[in-house]
Amino acid sequence: MERSCHHLKTLLSILLFLCFASSICVQAHVSGFDEQPLAKINIEKTTLDLCDSASIVARPRVGELLGLQGEEGTEWVTVDIVNPKPSSDDWVGVFSPAQFNVSTCPVDDPKDQPPYMCTAPIKYKYADHFDANYTKKGKTSLQFLLVNQRADFSFVLFAGGLSNPRMVAASKPLSFTHPKAPLFPRLALGKSWDEMTVTWTSGYNIDEAVPIVAWGMRGGPRKISPAGTLTFTRNSMCGSPARTVGWRDPGFIHTSFLKNLWPNSVYQYRLGHALLNGTYVWSKFYSFKSAPYPGQDSLQRVVIFGDMGKAERDGSNEYSDYQPGSLNTTDQLIKGLDKIDIVFHIGDITYSNGYLSQWDQFTAQVEPIASQVPYMIASGNHERDWPNTGSFYTGKDSGGECGVPAETMFYVPAENRAKFWYATNYGMFHFCIADSEHDWREGTEQYKFIEKCLASADRQKQPWLIFAAHRVLGYSSNSWYAQEGSFEEPMGRESLQKLWQKYKVDIAFYGHVHNYERTCPIYQNQCVRWEKKNYKGALGGTIHVVAGGAGAHLSQFSDMIPKWSIYRDYDHGFVKLTAFNHSSLLFEYMKSSDGKVYDQFTISRDYRDILACTHDSCDATTSAS
Ligand SMILES: *[C@@H]1O[C@H](CO)[C@@H](O)[C@H](O)[C@H]1NC(C)=O
Ligand SMILES: *[C@@H]1O[C@H](CO)[C@@H](O)[C@H](O)[C@H]1NC(C)=O
Ligand SMILES: *[C@@H]1O[C@H](CO)[C@@H](O)[C@H](O)[C@H]1NC(C)=O
Ligand SMILES: *[C@@H]1O[C@H](CO)[C@@H](O)[C@H](O)[C@H]1NC(C)=O
Ligand SMILES: *[C@@H]1O[C@H](CO)[C@@H](O)[C@H](O)[C@H]1NC(C)=O
Ligand SMILES: [Fe+2]
Repeated sequence: MERSCHHLKTLLSILLFLCFASSICVQAHVSGFDEQPLAKINIEKTTLDLCDSASIVARPRVGELLGLQGEEGTEWVTVDIVNPKPSSDDWVGVFSPAQFNVSTCPVDDPKDQPPYMCTAPIKYKYADHFDANYTKKGKTSLQFLLVNQRADFSFVLFAGGLSNPRMVAASKPLSFTHPKAPLFPRLALGKSWDEMTVTWTSGYNIDEAVPIVAWGMRGGPRKISPAGTLTFTRNSMCGSPARTVGWRDPGFIHTSFLKNLWPNSVYQYRLGHALLNGTYVWSKFYSFKSAPYPGQDSLQRVVIFGDMGKAERDGSNEYSDYQPGSLNTTDQLIKGLDKIDIVFHIGDITYSNGYLSQWDQFTAQVEPIASQVPYMIASGNHERDWPNTGSFYTGKDSGGECGVPAETMFYVPAENRAKFWYATNYGMFHFCIADSEHDWREGTEQYKFIEKCLASADRQKQPWLIFAAHRVLGYSSNSWYAQEGSFEEPMGRESLQKLWQKYKVDIAFYGHVHNYERTCPIYQNQCVRWEKKNYKGALGGTIHVVAGGAGAHLSQFSDMIPKWSIYRDYDHGFVKLTAFNHSSLLFEYMKSSDGKVYDQFTISRDYRDILACTHDSCDATTSAS
């Protein structure tokens, strides 16, 4: 065990020489953009290389125990490292649960020798991350932000880089004071307008405590509503890494249905667990505003984006460069939250890609938003796609999750949460959310649903008809769709265009392509209006919007700009719709870096403008006369 600490000087001078001779020491940390950073770690190949004079010690900011910061469920920790044989390849992995032993390895892949590492860390950082002096001094301190993920944590120092990890030292375990605490509430509209659902995560199974929500109008009487409890196991995962190194126990996911809400009213709530001995565990108080009555005339503000993903405030995981725009978008949404009523995140939610720990971290990141306004999601390739599991695409983008975590961690008002399509109302808006990871073409179950959903909007009361899906089923001049020739997901609009036309969809939103683009109102692949800012009277077609730039690495546009493309932005951003009343809608595109509006338009019209015949969209009886 001691052997490795000795040839320190020679090795160090060789390394330093290499660093001066070339820039490999810097480049060692730079790698592929589109890979889940945790996937770069070859954790199963870890060997033991313990060094007695090396140490790693974790210090919570306040006192001995974590969680003193209260109920937010996050805490900063300082980690001090001493390593007599430092190298720029050294890194620190944060593990949770803290202990690894053969019992944490999958049954079909037992390890026969220590350190029995079968699970990826929840995050990692290079030891010289913010301190180039580490490689000279063999000493440094790193900061980590931990999220309460129901289990304890340990910090492990490795040599050998991510591909040949050698375990040099490990810290003592560290635990939150209340590891099972109810955390990270996420609201979503229920199946009817007067129902709000609240979903949260805890460490309490139903045989230990009854999950409840205490809630009521501000100043009014308190009600207690029960919640349902769901979870999933390693065996519900469809493949690796979700089933292997990426697996982590998701805890218990509770959903409560708060019913009979008054329209547009502020409610307070808190999450709780009634323990068997008669005591209660409570979260802090949160509040939300209930939805307006469908068709109701009031100010209604909707934010829509896709592909936000998560990022690390402590700069972990390759300088947090997997979804570089994610925190900027999150922070802008939090900043503008008092002017937002509901959020739609249309697919590619966490990019956990089979590393289950990332779901808790994502729900912690969006908690300030999702605990206050309904956070409605759609399913993307990174949630759902896996071969032989019924997804329309047979890629491996979900990392073996095959939709299970997304369908459990977030509530959507779908008939069947595994078929991720649903209708929802918000006052004067009617939303039809499609699932581009399941077949949508004519003759399918989903196509029937989409038609029914679009047909069910009473346009006098709900003039603003919105369609959304993750992949670009409409129009995008992103370079790979341009190469393919038709500027869409293959077969995207072939069936759907006639529905958008027949039911006069105003705006169709997509993600998947990581940029922003807006089209003219399109009918039969043609622009029907050349106006760009103020659409008055009948819109005459559907405006297609790509809003997939909320976080992930940006997607290139084609060099050629199609006629229908009237605004493109290669940057991170999101879209906001404001319905002032039944005849006035404002559309705004904001950048995530500064929250300012870079593109906008308005639609002003009367009900009879919606009824008016456009092109061939009138009923057969009308065109026959
Ligand atoms: C292995 O780890 C599990 C979970 O952390 C723990 O419950 C168990 O006691 C450990 N077993 C040994 C032999 O250390
Ligand atoms: C690294 O060492 C130099 C020289 O001793 C010092 O000026 C610098 O502040 C150190 N950097 C850090 C990040 O500690
Ligand atoms: C009730 O049970 C919880 C969890 O087991 C325990 O922490 C708490 O101290 C108990 N309270 C009483 C009053 O027994
Ligand atoms: C609708 O709202 C717009 C924008 O605030 C306003 O100009 C218009 O007068 C309103 N129309 C009606 C019918 O209230
Ligand atoms: C995030 O916002 C900051 C502040 O506006 C900006 O400097 C930075 O470039 C943004 N990051 C990304 C990836 O857009
Ligand atoms: Fe995607």
